[in-house]
Amino acid sequence: MATICVVGTGYVGLVTGTCLADLGNRVTCVDIIAEKIERLKKGELPIYEPELEEIVGRNVSAGRLHFTTSYREGLNNADFVFIAVNTPSTDSLGGADMSYVENAARSIAQELDHYTIIINKSTMPVGSGDVVKRIIRANLSRPDVRFAVVSNPEFLREGSAIQDFRSPDRVVLGSSDKEAARKVATLYLPLRAPIVITDLYTAEMIKYASNAFLATKISFINEIAQICERLDADVKEVAAGMGYDKRIGRAFLDAGLGYGGSCFPKDVRALAYMAEEAGLHPQLLHAVMEINDDQRRLVSDRLTTILGPLRGCTIGVLGLAFKPDTDDMREAPSIDIIRQATDQGAYARVYDPVAMTTGCEALKREGVRMEQVQFCQGAYEVAESADALVLVTEWHEFKSLNMREIRTIMRRPVVIDGRNFFEAGELNRLGFIYCGIGRGASLPPAMLPDRDWASSQSLVDA
Ligand code: UDX
Repeated sequence: MATICVVGTGYVGLVTGTCLADLGNRVTCVDIIAEKIERLKKGELPIYEPELEEIVGRNVSAGRLHFTTSYREGLNNADFVFIAVNTPSTDSLGGADMSYVENAARSIAQELDHYTIIINKSTMPVGSGDVVKRIIRANLSRPDVRFAVVSNPEFLREGSAIQDFRSPDRVVLGSSDKEAARKVATLYLPLRAPIVITDLYTAEMIKYASNAFLATKISFINEIAQICERLDADVKEVAAGMGYDKRIGRAFLDAGLGYGGSCFPKDVRALAYMAEEAGLHPQLLHAVMEINDDQRRLVSDRLTTILGPLRGCTIGVLGLAFKPDTDDMREAPSIDIIRQATDQGAYARVYDPVAMTTGCEALKREGVRMEQVQFCQGAYEVAESADALVLVTEWHEFKSLNMREIRTIMRRPVVIDGRNFFEAGELNRLGFIYCGIGRGASLPPAMLPDRDWASSQSLVDA
C-alpha cells in the first residue's frame, strides 16, 4: 500500500484522498486553511457529498486518513503527492488563476527530501504540467532530489463523486516519464477501469475536450428544445428516441436551464481561451456558451409572457444548487433567475433541501436584492400566495409534492418547469398553466408562436 499526500481539501481533494484511503493506502490531506483542517479532524466536512462523511469517519478511525496544515507532515515518506487545489477563472474570458497551484508546487518543492511522484489532479490549462515541473525544480530545497510530474485529470461529478471514483469510465495518466505514470496506475488497479497512459499535454487536453463535449451535448439539446417548441414536438421524447442510438447515447441530453457548476462553464471558457491564444476561432465552443447563456433568460421571459410585468409578483423558486445532491452554488442558474425576477420588482420565495446557507451567501455575493428574497422552510411555504412556481433544481424530494395542494395555496396556478421534471399532463389536469422547456405540445397558449402576446393582457389574472 502506498503513502499518499493530497494537497487541497475541496471536492476533488477530499473525495480523492478519502477514496484512496478507503482502498487501503495511508493518506494525509494538507490544506493551508487551519480552520478547515480543525473541522475535518473533528469529522466535520466542508462540503456536502453523499456517503463522504461516513467514509471519512471510517478511514480516520482506521488510522489511514489524516489531516494537517503542514506540508512537511504530509510529505513525510509520501510516494505520491496529488495537487488538488482550485484553479478559478481569472476573468470572464477563460483565463485560469494558477496561483494556488503555483503556491502548492513551491511548498511541495521546499519539503521534498526523497523521490516523489507529483500528480496534477486539478484541471489546469494545457501545458501546466510543465509549469509545475519548472516551479518545483526551481524551488527544491535539496536540488539533488528527483521527482516526476504526472497529469491525472479528475472526472468526478458532484453528488456522485464517490461512485465516480470507485467505478470510473477510464483513468487518464499523462507524463513524459512513462515509468512514473505506470506507478500511478498501480493506485487505480483495484478499480479495474481502462487506464489511458499518454503524454502530459494530451492528458490535460482529454479533460477539457471531455467536458466541452458534454457541455456541447447539453447546448445541442437546448437548441433542439427551442426548435421543438416552435414545431410542437416534445424534446423529452426526442432525447429518448435519439438516445437509443448507441453512437449518440441518452446521457446529457436533458434540456433545461443550461449547465452550471464549477467545471463546465469554466472549462468551456478556458478551452475557447486557449484556442484563441493559439490563433484559432473556436466557433462551436462559442455557440455552446451562447446557447447556455440564453437558457438563463428563459424563465424571466416566460414569466413576463404569462404573468405580464413582474413588479409586485411573488415568484416561488424550488431549488438553488446548480444541480441536485450538492450544496454547490457555483454558476447556478438560480442566481440569474432570482436576480432577473427581483430586478423587475418581483419578490422571490426560495427553498433548497441542502443549499440554503450556500445559496444565501451566493445570492448576496452576486449582488441580488436580498430584501426581495425570502428563504422558506419547504416547498409548500414557497408556493404560498405565489404567482408562479419555478422548478430550478430537480431534487428528488420535489417528486413527492402534493401538486393538488400546491394548486390551492398559490395565488396563480403557473408552473415553469426548468428541468422538465413534472408530468405536464398531470399538471394541466390539475388546472396549472404548465410550461416546460422544449415541450411544444404542452405549452400554454400565450407561449405559442404566431400571436402577438407582447401587446396582449397577461394570461392569468390576479
Ligand atoms: C462535471 C463532469 O461531469 C465531471 O466529469 C467533471 O469532472 C466535473 O464537471 P459536475 O459539474 O459535478 O461534473 O456536474 P454534472 O452532473 O456533469 O452536470 C453539469 C451541469 O450540466 C449541471 O448544471 C446539470 O444541471 C447540467 N446538465 C447535465 C444538463 O443541463 N443536462 C444534462 O443532460 C446533464
